[in-house]
Amino acid sequence: MAIINWKGFLVPYEQAVDELKVKLRSIRKEYRKRNEYSPIEFVTGRVKEISSILEKANKFGIPVERIKFEMEDIAGIRVMCQFVDDIDKVVELLRARKDMTILYEKDYVRNVKESGYRSYHMIIKYPVNLVEGQVEILAEFQIRTLAMNFWATIEHSLNYKYKQQIPLELKQKLKTAADAAFILDEEMLEIKDEIKDAQKLFEVKSGIISNIMNSILTLISLGKIPEASRYEKSLNKLIDDGDVWELNNLLSSIKKEIDKYKD
Ligand code: GTP
Ligand code: MG
Repeated sequence: MAIINWKGFLVPYEQAVDELKVKLRSIRKEYRKRNEYSPIEFVTGRVKEISSILEKANKFGIPVERIKFEMEDIAGIRVMCQFVDDIDKVVELLRARKDMTILYEKDYVRNVKESGYRSYHMIIKYPVNLVEGQVEILAEFQIRTLAMNFWATIEHSLNYKYKQQIPLELKQKLKTAADAAFILDEEMLEIKDEIKDAQKLFEVKSGIISNIMNSILTLISLGKIPEASRYEKSLNKLIDDGDVWELNNLLSSIKKEIDKYKD
């Protein structure tokens, strides 16, 4: 077996994971800035442990010098979505990118694995620029809903506990849980628009409320304490079930109040 400098070997993978996490999180940020719904809820990433790389290489008989060409998940990125149809949207976004090449895709969302596992996988080739020049590495995206992620995380830890030999009864329970997660995703999808509206409304409201709070602080800094506490009381009354219209009214009246004291 060839001797390998693992620290050096992993450098481009670590960089790739860092870069890809930033890039995918930026997609979310971009949507949020435009006040639009983001198909990406959150992103995680990891570089495979050396012990797991070796274990897998042994299992599949991959010689050490072939690892970088054959092991596709040394760099792994997970993208979590709120709704099943967000997965397709994320896949489209990734397919359109110019900074990576997609080698192939595996759709375990529509083709559920025997275990009950569901996720959309994409294997990519990704260029990393190091001091000594550019290298291309392989990386794996796993795109899934929150429910799929919950299930996969639990199942993964059980597999770890039972060393891939989960007892049959437990396996069946996991299968039932996977079905339940599937139904949950389907039902959430049915009320997606409703949920999106609620989340949007929440954002709009918290935006106005934080504007009102800032304005109250401005009043205090202008020495208008009684006025500030009057507005604070009105805000407290609206905070639980005031609607956008009432909150906006309060905001414009406090703004007018501030204008009186500013010259
Ligand atoms: P690997 O040898 O794991 O790469 O399998 P593969 O090349 O056949 O690819 P596959 O797409 O099946 O699996 C890749 C990765 O998906 C795994 O490393 C896991 O992270 C995840 N995965 C696949 N199947 C399951 C499963 O049944 N349960 C869980 N929890 N994760 C899975
Ligand atoms: Mg694989």
